[in-house]
Amino acid sequence: MTTQSTTFVNDEAARVSGETLGFSFGANWKKFLVTVDEPIIGSAMQSFTAFTHLASLAPHEFLDLGCGSGLSSLVAIRLGARRVVSVDIDPHSVDCVRRLRDQENLGEDRWAVHHGSVLDEALLESLGRFSYVHSWGVLHHTGAMWRALANVVKHNVEPNALLHLALYNAHRSAPRWLRVKRLCNRSPHILFPLLKNGYLALLFGKMLAQFRSPIRFVREYHATRGMSFVRDMDDWFGGLPYEYCSPDQALDFLAERDFSMLRIKTTRSCGCNEFLFRAGGGLDPAA
Ligand SMILES: C[S@@+](CC[C@H](N)C(=O)[O-])C[C@H]1O[C@@H](n2cnc3c(N)ncnc32)[C@H](O)[C@@H]1O
Repeated sequence: MTTQSTTFVNDEAARVSGETLGFSFGANWKKFLVTVDEPIIGSAMQSFTAFTHLASLAPHEFLDLGCGSGLSSLVAIRLGARRVVSVDIDPHSVDCVRRLRDQENLGEDRWAVHHGSVLDEALLESLGRFSYVHSWGVLHHTGAMWRALANVVKHNVEPNALLHLALYNAHRSAPRWLRVKRLCNRSPHILFPLLKNGYLALLFGKMLAQFRSPIRFVREYHATRGMSFVRDMDDWFGGLPYEYCSPDQALDFLAERDFSMLRIKTTRSCGCNEFLFRAGGGLDPAA
């Protein structure tokens, strides 16, 4: 893995996928982190509890694989998780999570942070098993989505645990987006801004034609998991490797490994489908 002050190239993902990579998720998360305030944390908590129907994580040990900015890990802390462990392959993401942890005045015992990959079985095994495993929008960026998911199931999920995932949807436009992302990664200074800004001009133009306000749309965007539209656009155009699956493919993969689905939120676009599974049973998530 190579890091400079603001860039990081995920050499492992490049090797595994054969892609040319030029985008650092973590550098983007660092820009996001400076905007994180209590209303954003509140939105992230609200989205989490609305999806899971869990008002508290008090009994849980929470593993956040591919933690990004660390916002979901922070949500778990605020919801009372007994212990949180955050992992990311991008050192800039690791910096972000450590900063959030410092702000909360917490130490390693309550909130541990690791730099590493979900493709590294030795690392996953060393982390142990958890009652809540969370990996939102991550496994499809590893270069080996199914292997990554199999690793997590094999090493980190304790019996009866909750497994919370978001995976890109196999939408008909996905192959086209893959080509766009490849162009953006091969030409980060010219094609990336050109394609992204062209898309934004089209999107905002369409909104105006429908008498919808782009300003309001961007302002209200953080209601979605506390995220930022501007940062999500960079993540979307730059985020490579890019794999995707249908909800059924994810369900079948996990049903074969004795998981039952508790909740699902599907998309009709090329965004993420969100899943909450129970290992080895179909009880209510509050149980
Ligand atoms: C789209 S972001 C999602 C971040 C966070 N889970 C969230 O929901 O906001 C994907 C994250 O996965 C991380 N990632 C990609 N491949 C990884 C790997 N092999 N192991 C661990 N983290 C990885 C990236 O560095 C990035 O921070």
